[in-house]
Amino acid sequence: MKYVFGIDLGGTTVKNGIFTTEGQLLYKWEIPTDTSENGKSILPDIVATCKETSARQGYPYEQFIGLGIGVPGTVTREGNVQSCVNLGWGYTEVKSILEDLSGLPVMVGNDADVAALGEMWQGAGKGCSDMVMVTLGTGVGGGVIVDGKLVRGAHGFGAEIGHMRIDFQEKEFCNCGKRGCLEQYCSANGIARQAKLALEKGSQDSTLRKLKEITAKDIFDAAKAGDAFALDQMDIFGERMARALSYIACVTDPELFVIGGGVSKAGPIVIDAIKRYYGENTYGRQRDVRFVIARLENDAGIYGSAKLLIE
Ligand code: BGC
Repeated sequence: MKYVFGIDLGGTTVKNGIFTTEGQLLYKWEIPTDTSENGKSILPDIVATCKETSARQGYPYEQFIGLGIGVPGTVTREGNVQSCVNLGWGYTEVKSILEDLSGLPVMVGNDADVAALGEMWQGAGKGCSDMVMVTLGTGVGGGVIVDGKLVRGAHGFGAEIGHMRIDFQEKEFCNCGKRGCLEQYCSANGIARQAKLALEKGSQDSTLRKLKEITAKDIFDAAKAGDAFALDQMDIFGERMARALSYIACVTDPELFVIGGGVSKAGPIVIDAIKRYYGENTYGRQRDVRFVIARLENDAGIYGSAKLLIE
C-alpha cells in the first residue's frame, strides 16, 4: 500500500491527513500553527508531526510517495511562497525546504486553490468543470476552476478574491497594503470588525453589546436568534459578498459557488445572505449559478493537497 500526506496550513491550526494514493482518508489530526518568530518552526513542526503520527498509526514512512500542502498565500509554479500576509512569511521556498526536511517529493498550492481541488474531486463540485470556491476564514481565499483547471495567473496571484477592492472609502489598510479589500469585511475577522465599528458608531440595541469580545460566530448566532442589529450585519455581509462574486461571474460564469472556511460553519444563513443580493448584481444566465456550503467542510484542504500530490 502507498500513502500520501495532505496538509492544510492555516493561520491558527495545521490540519494533516494520511491518504491512500486512491484518495481514501485514513487518519487526520491537527497541530497549532506556531507563528512566533515569523513562523520559522512551522515547516519543521509539520515534518516532525507527519513522521511521528504516521509511525504511531502504523503507516510506514517508507510507503509515503509524497506530501501535498496548501498554504494561505500566493505560490509560484515552482512551489515558492511569494507572500503570505496572514502568516507573517515573506518569500519562502516551501517546496525545497519541505523536501529537504522530509526526504519526500512535495507539491505546494494556495490554500483556497487546493480546497477547490478537494471539493471538485470528492465534495460538492464532483463532476463540475466550472466552479469557484471561496474560503471565509482568517482571510478570504479564492479557488477558481475553469474548464476543469485552476486559474493561477501569470504570476501566481490569480483568484486572490480576498484582495478585490470593493470599498473605495476605506481608511484602514488590509494586511496586503491596499485599502477596501473584500477580506477586510467578509473574513471572520472582517465580519467582527465591521460589527464592532457599527456598534461604536450607532446606538441600535443588540444582544452583542453585552459581549466583551465579538466574533463572527457571535454575530451569526445573534442573527439566528432574531437580533435586528446582527441581521443588518448579515445583510451588509451578503451585499458585499454578492458584489464580489458577481464580478467573478462576469469573467468566468461558473456553475457553482462553494462557500467554505470557518465562517461557512454558520450554515445556510451565509448563503441566503449572499443570494439576496446576487441576482440584482448579475446578468442573464450568470444567475443560474448554484451556491453550496463546502461538503468536505474543514477537510477540503487536506483532500485537495493530497490530490495535488497524487496528480
Ligand atoms: C491570501 C490568500 C489566501 C487567503 C485565505 C488571503 O489573505 O492572500 O492567498 O488564500 O488569504 O487564507
